[in-house]
Amino acid sequence: MVRRSETKRRLISRPKRIGVVTGGGDCPGLNAVIRAVVLGGINRGWQVFGIERGFEGLLYENRIHSLNRQNVRGIIHTGGTILGTTNRGNPFRFKMVEGGHTREVDLSDKVVAEFKRRRFDALVVIGGDGTLRIASDLAQLGIPVIGVPKTIDNDLAATELTFGFNTAVTTATDAIDKLHATAESHERIMVVEVMGRYSGWIALYSGVAGGADVILLPEIPFTFESIVRKIESRWQSHRNFAIVVAAEGARPVGGDFFFKHKEAGKEPRLGGIAEYVAEELGRLTPYETRSLVLGHLQRGGMPSTSDRLLATRLGAAAVRAIELGERNCMVAYQSARIVTVPLERAVREMKTVPLDSDIILSAKELGISFGEEAPGEKERRRNKRK
Ligand code: F6P
Repeated sequence: MVRRSETKRRLISRPKRIGVVTGGGDCPGLNAVIRAVVLGGINRGWQVFGIERGFEGLLYENRIHSLNRQNVRGIIHTGGTILGTTNRGNPFRFKMVEGGHTREVDLSDKVVAEFKRRRFDALVVIGGDGTLRIASDLAQLGIPVIGVPKTIDNDLAATELTFGFNTAVTTATDAIDKLHATAESHERIMVVEVMGRYSGWIALYSGVAGGADVILLPEIPFTFESIVRKIESRWQSHRNFAIVVAAEGARPVGGDFFFKHKEAGKEPRLGGIAEYVAEELGRLTPYETRSLVLGHLQRGGMPSTSDRLLATRLGAAAVRAIELGERNCMVAYQSARIVTVPLERAVREMKTVPLDSDIILSAKELGISFGEEAPGEKERRRNKRK
């Protein structure tokens, strides 16, 4: 007869079985994380299973596959995710279509049951705030979760940096560089919209690196009076063109965000600010304006060197955390080190651009306008309306 303590010892020492899943929007560097998790696991003698298409993969047959070295060969530099992803697979509010009608059902029990049936020891969840919030809820139901933060927006408070951000900023900066030539040739105002949801990190970094004249951030509501002042000063100094970088979450003082799509129960899609700003500037100045939206280009392409490194470090650290017995935490980048933070805390706060940050200060010192309301401007506007 095998004693209880012996059974326990065998259970503890049996090679671990871990799952890895990517959820939410894709982001350059996801494959580098998957590779690090797979190699880190296999090199410890564990089995690693890839779950396809977000948490949905735990709801269907044939969506979970054992991953080996061959599966992750040659993917560190590739964009996208070999596992596929979705931002519609929330098992707590799963959308089912029946008789032409869509209804939401809670299938979280099914996800937990499948996880247990597979005898997984832990689940590595690579995602942004939405996906990690679902992971945190699944952790409450008994799934041991290790989160890996991903988003081009860099808007998670618990980590100083997310992989994908550097690549997105590089793509946006490259676009701004290219716009300079055409803006100058035609003496136009070019307004370019970049991603970032309700935080202005991509707009700020690419705007400063790309030498923009005006940068519009969600953190600093703008006025046209202020933008026009900056643009007129360019023409007065015979720099007859201007580049405006607008975060998709930028908005005028007292105004609302610009949405492309808003539907109950779904994450609203921001968009349209660049077109609006360009039209208004065309009306308020004698200059020709054009707008463009960089959109999903910012999520594509090869991850930059620094994103590959960060992604690899986070993936390897996630496996290390499992080995050390840590659960329900997120690996994070803090003070140039990878640490773990409780998952529940990690998904609580969004990281926006601090208005007193040195980069904002430096940008202002160099003459970049944030379209900020000038002292006395509110008063002048009010008097004008009378
Ligand atoms: O969070 C990443 C992000 O690319 C945002 O910057 C953007 O607002 C959103 O995702 C777009 O999402 P979707 O893939 O649904 O268009």
